[in-house]
Amino acid sequence: MKIQELIWDEGIYPRSSLNQKTVDAYVEALSIGAQFPAVMVQRVVNYTPGGDLLAIVLILIDGVHRWHAFRQAGRTDIPVIHYQDAVLDYEAAKTELLLESARNNTRHGDRLTPADKKRIARDIASSDPKCRYTETALAEKLGVIQQTVNAWITDIRARQKTNRDSIIIRLSRLGWTQEKISKKVGINQQRISQITNNTKFGNIGNLLSQGRDMTYIAGHYNMELALAWALRLQGKTDQEKFKALEWGLRTWDQWHFNECDDRFGDDWPGRIPAQLVAHTLFYFTEPGDLVLDPMAGGGVVPDVCLAFERKCRAFDLAPSEGRPEIEYHHWNPQKRTWPLDRKPDLIFFDPPYYTKKAKEYEQKAGKAAPSISSLSKKEYEAFFKDFFTLAHENTNPGASLAFLNADWYDFESTPAAQEDPGRSITLFDYHRLLTQTGWQVIRRIECPLSTERLTGNQVQKMQTKRILGTIGRTLLIARRT
Ligand SMILES: C[S@@+](CC[C@H](N)C(=O)[O-])C[C@H]1O[C@@H](n2cnc3c(N)ncnc32)[C@H](O)[C@@H]1O
Repeated sequence: MKIQELIWDEGIYPRSSLNQKTVDAYVEALSIGAQFPAVMVQRVVNYTPGGDLLAIVLILIDGVHRWHAFRQAGRTDIPVIHYQDAVLDYEAAKTELLLESARNNTRHGDRLTPADKKRIARDIASSDPKCRYTETALAEKLGVIQQTVNAWITDIRARQKTNRDSIIIRLSRLGWTQEKISKKVGINQQRISQITNNTKFGNIGNLLSQGRDMTYIAGHYNMELALAWALRLQGKTDQEKFKALEWGLRTWDQWHFNECDDRFGDDWPGRIPAQLVAHTLFYFTEPGDLVLDPMAGGGVVPDVCLAFERKCRAFDLAPSEGRPEIEYHHWNPQKRTWPLDRKPDLIFFDPPYYTKKAKEYEQKAGKAAPSISSLSKKEYEAFFKDFFTLAHENTNPGASLAFLNADWYDFESTPAAQEDPGRSITLFDYHRLLTQTGWQVIRRIECPLSTERLTGNQVQKMQTKRILGTIGRTLLIARRT
C-alpha cells in the first residue's frame, strides 16, 4: 500500500501527541532491516473532514508510530491489513472505529495515556446521547475500571438526562422571560412559574452534609453539573465562589490556565477555560448584569454566568445540541440584525481566530450561513469593523466588550526575519478597528495557549529554521464611549 494514500485522522486515532522517541527508535530499527507488523486500515466513504463525501478514503486505525517511522525513513510503501473488508460510512462507523483503535492501543506499543483515554470516553459519550455505549463497554475497550469511566463522563451523561424542569430553571436564571421559555419548551407560563419557584433543589446543602459530591447531586436531580454548582453557590459573593470552585483568583493581568474545567462548557473546537470567563466577569461586571456571547460554541460563557449570577444571552450559527440557552443566529453585520431586546452590559466575544479550526467550524456551518473563518482576509477584517459598529449602536456608554483573539500569520514555515506583515492579522489590527468604531481599549490581558500541542520534533524543526511560533492569546477589554 502506498503510504501517501493513507490518512491519519486525529478524530479517530486517539493520540493527542506522538511519542517521537518511539518513532525514532522504529526508524533506526527499519534502517537495520527490522520487519514490522502491518498497520490496520479501514476504507470509508462519507469522510466529512475530507470534503469529498463520495470518495473512498483509507484511514489508519492502528499503527500511527509505524506509519510515521516509514514516512520518516523515506519509504513509499507500508504493509496493511483491513479492519473490515466492506467500505464503511465514516459518520455512521466513527465511534466503532475510534473504539477499535483504542482497543488496539491498550494492548500493545505505546500505550494510550490516561488523558487520551479520557478524551476518547468523553468524545464517545458526547456523540452518543442515547447511551448505546454503557460505562461497562467503554471500560472494557479502554482497559480501565468502570468507576474511572464513570468519573470521566458523569457530567456528560447528567446533561444528556437533564430533565425539562432543570432546563426551565437554567433559562430563567439566565434571564429569559417566562414568555420566551414557554415558547422554547412548549408549556404554559403558569406552569413555568410553578417550576421556577419550586424549592426542592434547595436540599443541596443536606446532600453535601451527608458527604455526597457534586457529581452525585447533579445526577440525583437529573441536571447538568454547571446548574448544580449554580444552585450551590447561590447568594455567595464572587470571591467566595472562586474559593468554592477552587480557582485561584488572579490579581495580575496574566491569566494563564492550563486546562479547561470540565464542569463548565462542552468539549468544542476552540473551547476556552471557564476560569478565563470568570475572571472577566469578576473584574468587569456585577451580579445581575446582562452578558452577550455572540459566538458561544460549547457554552462555557452561559455556564459561568449561571454560577456567577449574571444574566446571559448566547448565540451561535451551530447551537450545540442539549444547550437550549444557545440560540441560532448567523452574524452578518451588513444585514444589521441584532437579536437582543435588552442592551448588554458586557459582550464576551470569542470568535474563530481567523482560519484556525476553519475545517471544524465549516463542518458545523451551513453553506448559506458560513463561519467567519472561511471569509477572505479583507472580508474577515470588514466583518469586525461592521460587528463592532453594530455592537456600539446596541449598547449604552460605559458597556464593556471583552475580545479574545490571537495573532494570525499566513506563513507558518517562514523564518521570523522574512515574515511579510501584509499576510497577518494581529491584535494591533483588532485594536485599530475597535478604536475606529467608538470603543476605547482599556486593558490588554495575556491568556497564553499551551505549547504542549507541538511535538519535540516539530519544535526542533522550527528552531532549525528560526521560525517564531505563536502561543500568545490576548483578551482586550474595551469600553464603549
Ligand atoms: C472560538 S469558537 C467559540 C468557543 C467558545 N467560547 C467555547 O469556549 O466553547 C467560535 C464560534 O463562532 C461560531 N461562528 C463563526 N462564525 C459565525 C457567524 N458568522 N455567526 C455566528 N456564529 C459564528 C462558530 O460556530 C464557533 O462555535
